[in-house]
Amino acid sequence: MSATDGWRDSAQAWIDSLGEEGDFGRKWVLDKPMLERAQGARRALDVGCGEGRFCRMMQAQGTRTLGVDPTETLIRKAKERDPQGGYLIAKAEDMRVEAGGFDLVVSYLSLIDIPGLEQAAAKMVEALEPGGRLLVANLTSFSSAGTIAGRWLRDRDGALKGFLMDHYLEERAEWVEWKGIRILNWHRPLESYMRVFLDLGLKLTHFAEPKPYGGDPEIGARYARAPWFHILEWRKEP
Ligand SMILES: C[S@@+](CC[C@H](N)C(=O)[O-])C[C@H]1O[C@@H](n2cnc3c(N)ncnc32)[C@H](O)[C@@H]1O
Repeated sequence: MSATDGWRDSAQAWIDSLGEEGDFGRKWVLDKPMLERAQGARRALDVGCGEGRFCRMMQAQGTRTLGVDPTETLIRKAKERDPQGGYLIAKAEDMRVEAGGFDLVVSYLSLIDIPGLEQAAAKMVEALEPGGRLLVANLTSFSSAGTIAGRWLRDRDGALKGFLMDHYLEERAEWVEWKGIRILNWHRPLESYMRVFLDLGLKLTHFAEPKPYGGDPEIGARYARAPWFHILEWRKEP
């Protein structure tokens, strides 16, 4: 892992903030549609698996999993919580996993953390068997713009006034901080993500901008005001 992306120093705060159930966006917006799409997979590779939460959830619906992540503390926690599961400490860009060994590759909110998008995407596609699926949940490029933009504007009383979007086409890494976590995130225009998978010959078979299905309605309402997450599913042509 790069010593400078913040993940090593933020790992424990990340584990604490996520808890067993996940944060709002995972628990109330992404988990359900992601699990529905992962249903039926025989063997899944979860790239940027963190402390292994989604691996455990996929296993609960009958999928064998391998989780890959470069942050040692997170992989240690993943193994502690799931001693039978497969986990590997590696960056997506140079992970060594079985080529064509998976019918599903998952990236659950990890693409914005990966500096080498093109190398990582190529590795993900290599790991897929022909006809296999790549399932991606990502922060939309309209909300990943970090400190320059991608944030809420508030009026004097603190009420939400709107969402700031600026410098959209500038690809850049920015530090983001919350709850004791301080990490480097990549902002890339949507085209960068689409182009990399299209250039690798994948076919887009699903696109969704999921809405919250529960939880605190006040928090949930923010997801209807600004674009936040999207889910894409790609297929490796046989
Ligand atoms: C926002 S977390 C998401 C973790 C997990 N998928 C989840 O949803 O709970 C992003 C993860 O990407 C990992 N990461 C950072 N750089 C990476 C890289 N080069 N390759 C793969 N994963 C990376 C971090 O260690 C972290 O676990």
